Order: sequence, then C-alpha cells, then structure tokens
Amino acid sequence: MGKKTIHDFNQMVANGEKIVYLTAYDYLTAKMQEKAGVDMILVGDSLGMVSLGYDTTFPVTMDDMIRHCQAVRRGAPNTFIVGDMPYMSYQASDEQAIANAGRFVKEALVDAIKLEGGGPMIASRIKAIQQAGILVMGHIGLTPQFMGQLGGYKAQGRTGQAALSLVQQAKLVEEAGAFSILVEGVPSAVGKAITERANIPILGIGAGPYTHGQLLIYADMVGFYDNFTPKFVKKYANVGEVLTNAFKEYAQDVREGKFPVDGEHTYKMKEEEVKEFLALLEKEK
Ligand code: KIV
Repeated sequence: MGKKTIHDFNQMVANGEKIVYLTAYDYLTAKMQEKAGVDMILVGDSLGMVSLGYDTTFPVTMDDMIRHCQAVRRGAPNTFIVGDMPYMSYQASDEQAIANAGRFVKEALVDAIKLEGGGPMIASRIKAIQQAGILVMGHIGLTPQFMGQLGGYKAQGRTGQAALSLVQQAKLVEEAGAFSILVEGVPSAVGKAITERANIPILGIGAGPYTHGQLLIYADMVGFYDNFTPKFVKKYANVGEVLTNAFKEYAQDVREGKFPVDGEHTYKMKEEEVKEFLALLEKEK
C-alpha cells in the first residue's frame, strides 16, 4: 500500500477506522514502524528529551529537527510524516513560520508540519503556512512549548470554562485551515466534544478513546524512555530493560574473556597464509 494522503485520513474518519500515529526520531525506528503499518509518524520536538537528553523541548533547533526528519523519511519512505516545528521557529511572524515550514518540506520531504497553540496568533501562522501550500496539523491542550504559562506538564481543560475554551480553540485552528488537530492531555469528555464538533481528523494523546486516532511517544510505549511516564501511556514492551541486560551481559563476557570466541566471531585466514605469516614474523625478528 502506498503512502496515505489527507484523503485517506478523511476517508478513515468517515469509515470509523482509527488512525494509528506514533513518534519516531531515527531511521531504524521509522523503518520498523512502517513495517508495522503505522498510518502516520510524528517527528516530535520531544526529540529533545527522548533522543538528545534535554529536560525540556525548548533547546531543540530547526537543524536538529531537519536532520532527524531526514533520517525518519529514509526509514519510512511510504508513510505520511509530520515534522514538529520547534520552539521559536514560528512564533515571531507569519514569514518566519512559512520559511521554517518550507525547510521541513524542501529539506526533509515531510508531508505536513505541526505547531502548538490555539490562540489568534497561532491561527494566523496556520493560515499563512497553509496558504503557502503546506499541510498544517494543529496541537492544543497540554502544549509543552507553553509549559511556563500552563504551570508545568499538567492535564488541561479540567474545569467547565477551560474545557469550553479548548473546544473554541479547536474551532479556531480548524477554521484557520489545519488539516487535522492533535489534542494532548485533556479529559475524555473534552476529547470527545472536540471530535464530535470537528470536520477534520482529531488525533489524541492522553485525550481519551473517542478521538479519530491515537498518538503515543514511541519511547514511552516500548519502555525505552524512563525519566517520566505520563498516566495515559500503555507500555507494550520493556525495551529499556532488554537493552540494559544485553549491555550488562556483553560487559561481563568481555571482562571474562568469553567474547569474542575464536572461530565463531572472527575472520578466517587460509592455513597456508597463516604459515606464511608466521614465517614472515620469524624473519622480522
Ligand atoms: O513532540 C512531540 O512528540 C509532541 C507530542 C508530545 C504530542 O508534540
């Protein structure tokens, strides 16, 4: 099956089929996700925390994102890829937003970009990028680039007024021209209300079961990233433990001289070449 397009995603919504969305940051993971039949991959700026070791997403640069989107594209040539616009790559002006969104498409061949926020300024950015011919995914709710204003990494929309405000933000983002919206870290009732009122695919991460599709950060769901695991994550594997045990076993084998085993993990040399080699060494003395 070829790469899915926005028409396929709209059709999936119409058919009641869920859209499967995961993050990836590198070639190998993207390759496995494409093989597994994931519908859409996000190269999130969570890259900063998951792969680059920062405490937040703030230090991630455009160059970081482009490099990792290129690797993901090489791993998943037939999957719809969304590139995440990093902090301060779109906030300054519509012109800055168009130029940086353009880099994602031109240099990394992504299919769409994503940006955070649901206010009038972000609506203006979405409209500008969309009018430049680039697909835009909105992102509302728990938006890590607004961490300071949100008072930390906390679920959003938990009062009636805050929930209504998120429904209004979703409408604004849709009207600005987003092809889809990611809703993060909100109660199920809010995810449901946004989804029921939308005319575009609504994807959720920690937004309950009623959205048109689900996203997880791959490193959370396979037990790779263990600094912090949000409540909404289901763990499908314990890759971190598997790798740590493999590294420990390797260290023990090397220290005890059990690896490499001669003849098993080594290159062979013809008997006559060994003889000649030893004779030459003798002559060298
Ligand atoms: O950067 C990312 O992976 C994201 C998710 C947290 C939604 O934006």
